[in-house]
Amino acid sequence: METAVLEAINTRYSTLAESSCCLSCGGAINRAEPAPGEVCADLGSGRGNDVIRLAEAVGPAGFAYGIDVSAGMIEKARKNLEKFGVANAEIRQSRLEELPLDDESVDLVISNCTINHADDKDRVWSEIYRVLKSGGRFVVSDIYSVGEVPEEYRTDPQAVAECWAGSVTRERYLSQLAGAGFEDVAILEESAPYAKGKIQTVSWTIAGRRPNRVRCRCSR
Ligand SMILES: C[S@@+](CC[C@H](N)C(=O)[O-])C[C@H]1O[C@@H](n2cnc3c(N)ncnc32)[C@H](O)[C@@H]1O
Repeated sequence: METAVLEAINTRYSTLAESSCCLSCGGAINRAEPAPGEVCADLGSGRGNDVIRLAEAVGPAGFAYGIDVSAGMIEKARKNLEKFGVANAEIRQSRLEELPLDDESVDLVISNCTINHADDKDRVWSEIYRVLKSGGRFVVSDIYSVGEVPEEYRTDPQAVAECWAGSVTRERYLSQLAGAGFEDVAILEESAPYAKGKIQTVSWTIAGRRPNRVRCRCSR
């Protein structure tokens, strides 16, 4: 199933890379407040628009990574970085379940309307936790489903690639965040329910933090 979904995602988004400028269901970057010197990552970075904004905000002392799985998006995003002369950013091709980033190397993770596509969302959240520094934060825009997505859609790769059938309920979403170990989880924006594909969904922007590790300074 996962391979079929990734193929459908690659086909859909590689086409959209050329034809569509903005594909998100929210504006995580507008709520994320990237600061000079920070290391940031945009998961599902598409054409790289938000990676460029992150790179500008963090400045030469910081760095921005874009992570995406679709070949067409990767190519477009890399061309865009080159076109705008962005030196402090890099686009890496990967699924979200295995982020090509070092442990505790990132201050801020953002993502726009991508995590709903992922096959193993528990794994994605645990990867976000792994790459964040102690005290690091995420701001994610995504959708959740109003009620369980019927099996016939959940297992349809095309429907998952179309950004609705992979969504989970609000309760499941929040329990995945808690299960990964995040704290200070806050809902920054939440829409009214609306029809998407064959289901009702809600768009939201949520934030949370990897707990600050307490360092023992005890001396004997
Ligand atoms: C809705 S678009 C959002 C693009 C961009 N963030 C924006 O706001 O315009 C979702 C992006 O996530 C990528 N994507 C979807 N599923 C993915 C996965 N499992 N792993 C990595 N990237 C994925 C797609 O290739 C696409 O570029």
